[in-house]
Amino acid sequence: RFFSSKKHPPMLPTIPLVGGMVKFAADPIGLMSTGHKLCGDVFSVRLLHRKFTFLIGPEVSGHFFRAPEKEVSQKEVYQFNVPTFGPGVVFDVDYPVRMEQFRFLVDGLKQVKLRSYVADMVREAEAHFAKWGVEGVIDLKKDLADLIIATASRTLLGREAREQMFEKVSDLLHDLDQGMLPISFFFPYLPIPAHKKRDEANKELRRLFSRVITNRRAANISENDLLQTFIEATYKSSGRHLTDGEITGLLIAALFAGQHTSSVTSLWVSAHLCSEPKWLARVVEEQKRIIAEHGAALNFDVLSKMDDLHLVIKETLRLHPPLMMLMRYVHSDFTVTTAEGTSYVIPKGHVIVTSPYYAHRLERIYRDPLSFDPERFAPGREEDKVGGAFSYIAFGGGRHGCLGENFGYMQIKAIWSILIRNFELELVSSFPGSDFRSFVVGPTGSCAFRYKRRATPLA
Ligand code: HEM
Repeated sequence: RFFSSKKHPPMLPTIPLVGGMVKFAADPIGLMSTGHKLCGDVFSVRLLHRKFTFLIGPEVSGHFFRAPEKEVSQKEVYQFNVPTFGPGVVFDVDYPVRMEQFRFLVDGLKQVKLRSYVADMVREAEAHFAKWGVEGVIDLKKDLADLIIATASRTLLGREAREQMFEKVSDLLHDLDQGMLPISFFFPYLPIPAHKKRDEANKELRRLFSRVITNRRAANISENDLLQTFIEATYKSSGRHLTDGEITGLLIAALFAGQHTSSVTSLWVSAHLCSEPKWLARVVEEQKRIIAEHGAALNFDVLSKMDDLHLVIKETLRLHPPLMMLMRYVHSDFTVTTAEGTSYVIPKGHVIVTSPYYAHRLERIYRDPLSFDPERFAPGREEDKVGGAFSYIAFGGGRHGCLGENFGYMQIKAIWSILIRNFELELVSSFPGSDFRSFVVGPTGSCAFRYKRRATPLA
């Protein structure tokens, strides 16, 4: 009667307040691995003023992904995005408004729109690779990042951003990027130069896009891009249109969600394919087969038929999910039960964390998890179904699963098809390591590839 039967998760042996934070920022996977080995699938750790509880694996992640917003929510833990996106959008508004805003995004990414975005992606990629020489060595990390910002600008931000103010907008987006530091997670408004630049960039982007929106409205111009969807959208609850500031904020949010994630994934795909001759040959053969059956043109339907390339991208995202950690704030105590049958109560006030990176390397789910084996997802094996819905979480899942998954796949497939149809590629640097210090985990350093234009392109 006098003792609570509730069992809280084991606490990782205390680490010095600041020391723990430094260790976590430098090596988050190391900390997760230590906690997992010492404590099992559920454990807590105190970092600065917050308690974090890690949930490792699909058995204990259901509540994280499925629970209603009043029980676990994103808003409190993703506050560091607010100054980047600006006021009035996403994590600066209450849940019902955010859901309405995401509905606009869903409208802007639906298949009929995606079909025309694919045409833009193909045009941008063809123009980009046409500028490569006959042969040479290139830092593909930077090159693909440049290409993705161009395609994302055209399809999401719109023609004006791509054709009339590309340099300016890219620079401002770069300042927004640089203003998102590990320290920003805990203190998003700390008066440091990077935050000041971030705030100025947000203001300037709002000014630039307000001008574009006014021009489109005045001249009755309608384009096929995400910007147009936002311009035409109205809130169901009030019937009002979005303000220019809200439109700009949502564009920035979409770009932040989709740009680096796709860019680093295209690079990891290139690194893996160039290290796996069997898969490279298979992807080339698939291109030849598709060209023979459907002709040289690349469009939504043709890209959808590239099953081998799809498996390669999916496996790349298993090994290198760009979002290494997903988080939620706990509003009411809840219980999780591990695969071994131990139950823990996660207390209100904790931040719960689940890691796609760590979950994707669990031996109990994935056979030989460190090896690159796209076949593991093919019919007959489907290892991502072992353990239930949350074994494969590169795109999250449940209530807040990624809204841009198809867009991301299309973009990467379009780029890779054009690249491999026209060039032979070889990784010159050693296989890149992961840079865990950034929010979107990409490869460390530059990534040199040798390319040679095919004497006879595949198409
Ligand atoms: C959410 C990954 C591309 C828009 C997420 C989440 C993940 C993810 C893991 C869940 C976050 C969480 O649960 O806290 C990826 C990856 C991508 C990609 C790996 C590419 C390879 C895109 C693109 C867009 C996009 C291209 C839009 C143009 C979103 C949005 C959400 C989201 C709006 C929030 C959904 C919600 O909270 O309800 N993404 N993403 N993503 N993603 Fe993506």
